[in-house]
Amino acid sequence: PVSLKGRHFLTLKDFTPQEIHYLLDLSRELKAKKLAGVRGNLLEGKNVVLIFDKTSTRTRCAFEVAAFDEGAQVTFLSNSQMGKKESIEDTARVLGRFYDGIEFRGFKQETVEELAAFSGVPVWNGLTDLYHPTQILADMLTLSEHVAKPLRQVKLVYVGDARNNMGNSLMIGSAKLGMHFVAVAPKELFPAESLVAEMRELAKETGATIELTESIDDGVKGADALYTDVWVSMGEEAHFEERIKLLHPYQINMEMVAKTGNPDVLFLHCLPAFHDLNTSVGREIFEKYGLKDMEVTDEVFRSKHSVVFDEAENRMHTIKAIMVATIGNV
Ligand code: CP
Ligand code: NVA
Repeated sequence: PVSLKGRHFLTLKDFTPQEIHYLLDLSRELKAKKLAGVRGNLLEGKNVVLIFDKTSTRTRCAFEVAAFDEGAQVTFLSNSQMGKKESIEDTARVLGRFYDGIEFRGFKQETVEELAAFSGVPVWNGLTDLYHPTQILADMLTLSEHVAKPLRQVKLVYVGDARNNMGNSLMIGSAKLGMHFVAVAPKELFPAESLVAEMRELAKETGATIELTESIDDGVKGADALYTDVWVSMGEEAHFEERIKLLHPYQINMEMVAKTGNPDVLFLHCLPAFHDLNTSVGREIFEKYGLKDMEVTDEVFRSKHSVVFDEAENRMHTIKAIMVATIGNV
């Protein structure tokens, strides 16, 4: 039987396919329990700290609600001394004395790894430059709920910035679970070669396929799901102009949806998404660059293909599973 007690959650690379399926099964169980209105005590007596060096809606709220549902207490920390007046190592040693688990969202993967090395308690990666592993569990759960076949038969096509945390993490998750992963992107934004090589090696064991292409027509054909993310991730704002030029041909619109040839193709996005003008940052960028839309059209975002809000809800159930599995009273 699988046990993840005491483990960190820094990247899905560290987990076996069996362990990932265990987390997905636990998520389904906890989701059913929540929908049945049952309060839990699986995290009773636990304290967790949520460190956010970048903004968040879903990840922060998912951790908080998940903790409260199962009886844990949380501290939200976005103005700590860490990395400014105090080293990451010392911060980890201090927080490890207070808390049973530490969530970190920030700029560098090395930071979350250093926290994990010195905290003495499980550390969960809530997004770094390289990986967003909690998001992948929600995405896989959502796919499994909406596609009427096993995950290993699913063709997941990620379109856009395939070099960012989402591109990397979806490729890793797909390789682990034996899926058919395609990144459709301009060459400049293909994932790092070393990571691709590592995942192709793993794919030999799991039956996954990992394909990278610049061709939209070839890449999206037969897709079960189209996935995209923002063209410019948090911390990369200086790259707006270059990304818009590179990625505009890769926008997910109804024409691309039709090219899949699958009338039931799903649309996923980790969110937040630039799909209309109703945000201050969106308005500014759209005006500055004369755009009407970015990574996805409003039409696709609001279409029957879109499962983005189921996906967002699943952040909570899957993050709960991660906490219960690693620090829970079970
Ligand atoms: N998908 C995601 O991580 O959303 P937030 O940035 O709102 O946490
Ligand atoms: N790639 C995006 C994901 C946001 C959830 C970012 O890092 O900003």
